[in-house]
Amino acid sequence: MCGIVGYIGNKKATPVLIDGLLCLEYRGYDSAGIATIEKDSIKVMKDKGRVNNLYNLDGINDLQGTVGIAHTRWATHGKPSKENSHPHMDNSKNFAVVHNGIIENYSDLRDFLSKSGYTFYSETDTEVIPNLIHYYYTNGPVSVLEDKRERFLGAVKSAVFDLKGSYAIEAISPLCPDEIIVVRKDSPLVIGKGNGENFIASDIPAILSHTKDFYLLDDNEFAVVTKDDVRFYDNGLVEHNKSIKNIEWDANAAGKDGYEDYMLKEIYEQPTAIRETIGSRFKLGEKCSFDDIEITKEYLSTVNKIYFVACGTAWHAGLVGKALMEKLCKIPTEVDIASEFRYRNPLIDEHTLCIYISQSGETADTIAALKLAKSHGAKTLAISNVIGSSITREADYSIYTHAGPEIAVASTKAYTSQVALIAILAMYFAETLETTSEAEIEALKSDLIDLPSKIDQILANTDEIKDFAKKVYTEKDMFFLGRGTDYNVALEGSLKLKEISYIHSEAYAAGELKHGPIALVENGVTVIGIITNPHLVEKTISNIQEVITRGAKTLVITNQILPNGHFDYIINIPETNPLISPILSVIPMQLISYYISKFKGLDVDKPRNLAKSVTVE
Ligand code: M6R
Repeated sequence: MCGIVGYIGNKKATPVLIDGLLCLEYRGYDSAGIATIEKDSIKVMKDKGRVNNLYNLDGINDLQGTVGIAHTRWATHGKPSKENSHPHMDNSKNFAVVHNGIIENYSDLRDFLSKSGYTFYSETDTEVIPNLIHYYYTNGPVSVLEDKRERFLGAVKSAVFDLKGSYAIEAISPLCPDEIIVVRKDSPLVIGKGNGENFIASDIPAILSHTKDFYLLDDNEFAVVTKDDVRFYDNGLVEHNKSIKNIEWDANAAGKDGYEDYMLKEIYEQPTAIRETIGSRFKLGEKCSFDDIEITKEYLSTVNKIYFVACGTAWHAGLVGKALMEKLCKIPTEVDIASEFRYRNPLIDEHTLCIYISQSGETADTIAALKLAKSHGAKTLAISNVIGSSITREADYSIYTHAGPEIAVASTKAYTSQVALIAILAMYFAETLETTSEAEIEALKSDLIDLPSKIDQILANTDEIKDFAKKVYTEKDMFFLGRGTDYNVALEGSLKLKEISYIHSEAYAAGELKHGPIALVENGVTVIGIITNPHLVEKTISNIQEVITRGAKTLVITNQILPNGHFDYIINIPETNPLISPILSVIPMQLISYYISKFKGLDVDKPRNLAKSVTVE
């Protein structure tokens, strides 16, 4: 959470910083601020509220500095307020810092610094960092270094050594006005290489309009960024070289491209995202292959359990993954929420394959759960949308969805691409292990190839979906029902509704309703049923009938021919294999939530209390 931007070059830093922050607002939007070096001092401008508010701050346009750091905040320590906004300065006003992450021992550090005469002006954990930098700049072995640059870097290193927790930090000082020092641990940070200028950001899209060449900073790695150069140091401050990664994302892909909101754009990008994710990984009549990994038959034959571990929407993709792995590969598969997995002593050993799903690749709980499995000797495989993200750097194997940048907080194209990629992975395993007939796999491949055009079909006519949203947008509660993968996708539909429409909703396995939740169903309540598995049609209809009898209004999303006159609304979607039908049935649910949110006048892309990338526990 929280977004960081930095600029050093010949241009005025402020516009670059604010533009970058606007691209990063999905990481947090409680408050925002920038600091630039103006002649021989640091000027900080910040306030609570959205990044756009920065334009209204008195004097913001007068800033001339060509070196600056900036931050958009998702509050952890201390309420959203001007005082708690970043950047934070030390008492001498010689060091300014922005920080993403959490300093777990900040209270001890604050006590120590207070006893040493420092005063604190905010409730944040971050404010200890610039003061610690000042402390080490003026005390101890670093303070006697003659070269100011070495002294500044040494002070940052000493300060960082005192920190427990996660951080991505940028620090500037008028004492060394031609550089920005950055360091990270368990929070993302990238450096974009320009020509006579360099850029820093938490995420690539923020600076993609300036460069496609990136250095991906590693954990515990320091970088000193000047306008012409970037120098990298390990945690003993030994300098080393680092290679540049060229990121092929198109800068327009990170913009709205004429759509009203990122979420709508991303919904409409799903056919392309699936096509790109399939890429050259399989063709009809040929076996699946992954350029990025080679998992041998010898190894796979030793795997007796698969875990999918993830959070939120990615966890929902894992639920579909379980059905795919068990059906095609006959390997028992469990699906865990990362924050539970890491604290429940899961039974894992070298015969367990743990698959971690994370769009951002930066979710703190998912990364921690991956490290746990590695420490128990299991092999780990990461599925991410972001090349070089933390999770992919930790895992034994990494494969990528090629969905392009996902900016809206509510995940859409990442989910459908994740399910498609897991289907390809399951086919790859099944072909390697020979656990499913060629004919069955060929049929599934053909269904996967057809998905993009079937999504296009759904997206070509959304009037019914919009009408339905208009009828129900004032409701307080809704229910989602399904069986099998229809239940898995019901959970995703319900999450979308909660997060962007603020309507309370629950998803249940259709057969489970009568074991308690049906008590909540009363006259007029809306129930959305999903029916895409021909073998489960009658059973699910019976369950929906149970809520109709109790006065519920029903919408059914289906690819089956259903009896007339039972349901209030039916949305028909194209038929496909039930193992991958969530990729189609989720689309109307994404749109229902989207339109309800619009009818309610909410901010679709930045729902309250949420952030795109959850880099805290
Ligand atoms: O980046 P990740 O896939 O690890 O993120 C996991 C969840 O935080 C994410 O899917 C979240 O649930 C979305 N807001 C759902 O729309």
